[in-house]
Amino acid sequence: MTSIRKAVFPVGGLGTRFLPATKAIPKEMLPVVDKPLMQYAVEEAYAAGIRQMIFVTGRNKRAIEDHFDTAYELEAELEAAGKQQLLDLVHSIKPDDMDCFYVRQPRALGLGHAVLCAERLVGDEPFAVLLADDLMIGANQMAGGPTVLQQMVDAFASSPGTVLAVQDVPRADTRRYGVVDVHGVNQRLAEVFGMVEKPAPEKAPSTLAVAGRYILTPAVFDSIRNQPRGAGGEIQLTDGIAALIGREKVQAFRYDGQRYDCGSKEGFLQATIDLALANPELRDSVRAHIQRVAG
Ligand code: UTP
Repeated sequence: MTSIRKAVFPVGGLGTRFLPATKAIPKEMLPVVDKPLMQYAVEEAYAAGIRQMIFVTGRNKRAIEDHFDTAYELEAELEAAGKQQLLDLVHSIKPDDMDCFYVRQPRALGLGHAVLCAERLVGDEPFAVLLADDLMIGANQMAGGPTVLQQMVDAFASSPGTVLAVQDVPRADTRRYGVVDVHGVNQRLAEVFGMVEKPAPEKAPSTLAVAGRYILTPAVFDSIRNQPRGAGGEIQLTDGIAALIGREKVQAFRYDGQRYDCGSKEGFLQATIDLALANPELRDSVRAHIQRVAG
């Protein structure tokens, strides 16, 4: 059985929806409660057994490399001050058995282009793609249950091929997503027969939208390369995957969990509130504050 060993994190986007915060800081480094979005995604991949993390970065993304690197001064200070717990916390960001690789996307030409930039580092094996601005929390994850990517890795193990995380969205919102056409809309894992990027509600083939988690096969690289520029003049990942349909098995997986679109202000704030309410140290004071302002 092939397992998934590598995860690609495309972080070359400009994050314009979050300006001015993202002028000098990558949006993936914005913290939800106390942890950057990037770290949530890396932890999700690690929990799914993945140890090789491939970051496709762009200008202004150095903070991401620094976050997963040693911080000598900070660690020396914490050690001298005897702050062992904080030291352990800092060390836990990059476990010893995890490797990080970085490749630059020279221009933000689209998500498909970003994935293509990782081709040489991925090689000839299936791999995961995680968009860190989609923060995903598995339904029972807080109680030790599987993360969304773990659920997808399990689905891949039982039925190898491309696996796309999908969720039901209101028809009015289809323009914000890649939308799939599937047989067996209610099945957990369903074969995809068509896929379109950001369709108008009346043209959408379904209301099943692709979220920012994918398991892809190496055939996707050639497929992306052969696509003309898609929606918005960008090289779209959706088009590359859509062109594989009929040649390889492409599947939509209804994950069990919650997605927060942290590339948007609303999603980011919802994630912050939900995760603060799930945090034992913050729960009571945050709930009291919400009741005060809402009441
Ligand atoms: P988005 O559509 O959210 O674009 O990209 P963006 O540029 O990051 O943000 P806005 O819309 O301007 O606010 C979805 C994902 O694809 C990555 C982004 O980093 C994000 O994780 N991406 C996008 C790239 O890595 N490279 C690109 O050229 C475009």
